[in-house]
Amino acid sequence: HPKRPRGFFACVRVPGTTGHPKRSPAIDLTGQRCLAGWVRSVRPQKKNLFLHVNDGSTLQPLQIVASSGLDDPLLTFGCAVEVTGTLKQSPHQKQLVELEADQILVVGECNPVDFPFKIKERHNLEYIRQFPHLRCRTNAFSSLLRIRSEATTAIHSYFRENGFVQIHTPIITSNDCEGAGELFQVEPQSPENDEDANFFSVPAFLTVSGQLHLEVMSGGFSRVYTFGPTFRAENSQSRRHLAEFYMVEAEVSFTQSIEDLTKVMEDMFRSATEDVLAHCAEDVALFHKITYTEAIDILNRSSQKFAFPTQWGCDLQTEHEKYLVKHCGNIPVFVTDYPYELKPFYARDNEDHPEHTAAAVDLLVPGVGELCGGSLREERLDLLRTRAGLQDTYSWYLDLRRFGSVPHGGFGLGFERYLQCILGVDNIKDVIPFPRFSHSCLL
Ligand code: 4AD
Repeated sequence: HPKRPRGFFACVRVPGTTGHPKRSPAIDLTGQRCLAGWVRSVRPQKKNLFLHVNDGSTLQPLQIVASSGLDDPLLTFGCAVEVTGTLKQSPHQKQLVELEADQILVVGECNPVDFPFKIKERHNLEYIRQFPHLRCRTNAFSSLLRIRSEATTAIHSYFRENGFVQIHTPIITSNDCEGAGELFQVEPQSPENDEDANFFSVPAFLTVSGQLHLEVMSGGFSRVYTFGPTFRAENSQSRRHLAEFYMVEAEVSFTQSIEDLTKVMEDMFRSATEDVLAHCAEDVALFHKITYTEAIDILNRSSQKFAFPTQWGCDLQTEHEKYLVKHCGNIPVFVTDYPYELKPFYARDNEDHPEHTAAAVDLLVPGVGELCGGSLREERLDLLRTRAGLQDTYSWYLDLRRFGSVPHGGFGLGFERYLQCILGVDNIKDVIPFPRFSHSCLL
């Protein structure tokens, strides 16, 4: 290829129309550019050829104007091109700039007959999901992944700006934090001898949560968080469960009450969402708070017939969570103080409550149900000691309470469910690049 000045479409973002306003640089209309991307439309006209090309950096394609002499039978919907030309103010109302092409090079052909996406057709997410290797070429899915990327940055920014230290918690672990037995075991492939087969000397698993490792770190750093993949062998085909999902988890030391914790959860949710939805921050400014006992009361008084009947002590099912959110006005709802028996070993005993409850909280959100789970952690050694089996398997966890234990608490937010919630996406498989769930591990 001849030497050409190169540029990216991100350079021609128009402030206020696409992308993050703060990050849109001023449009530089000087000099020659070479821009590369995939053709979204080809419109040959008498004198000129009009192309829309998109490189994935924004939703908007860039209009390319070329003389009809540059037309080429290989220039079809879906092909990859490199275009050299001059960026100009556009005379058309819909776009501020266009590229006047001197040269168009087809670098990758695309036969539109075989290509599963058709020009001008609006394919739904269910159809698009059938092509996991090609779906990033559609507007709908590429938008979702750009927002996912923006939300990731926003979440890291929140924690950085609020004094949290990021911890890379391990992917391979010997613990089952949630104690629910939904573990994927890790073993070497085809071990040649017994030593290989027993690689870690103890059973090892893909992590279901980084919480226990965060709790270790919260013994030296008062505010820590992690944001990474977690794995659950849940045999579920539902619209809100994956076998591999990303979780945002935080642990805050010197926390005295569930209110201290819900404040951090609310702040993080609001700050990240305001960042993502820069223009409609007020839409996420409302949260409601009820106790589990109040929730059961609401459900018992409801005239709706539930598949799972409710009584104090039962776990809340998706249908219950969705009802509670609707009942509270379709805004995020914190449900606190769950029955002690429903929560894992680490949740703090609310001994002063008449019913036996734990200082635990779930955040329920419209369309999704449970988005976050959190709790104060049992920091009192004598109480933790009474939990069955802890002495043998988690003696290191008891040590944390033995040496400089502090009241602390934390929470985990399912990142895909967060995206489902803020975007109103029905199926969790549409907000992750490569979904993994039971009976499916494509690509
Ligand atoms: O409520 P969970 O199981 O809580 C924990 O793992 C705690 N150890 C977190 C902590 O306190 N550090 O999971 C937390 C969140 C859920 O609220 C849900 O949003 C999401 O993780 N989640 C899933 N998301 C997608 N697919 C699945 N199979 C999920 N299971 C949980």
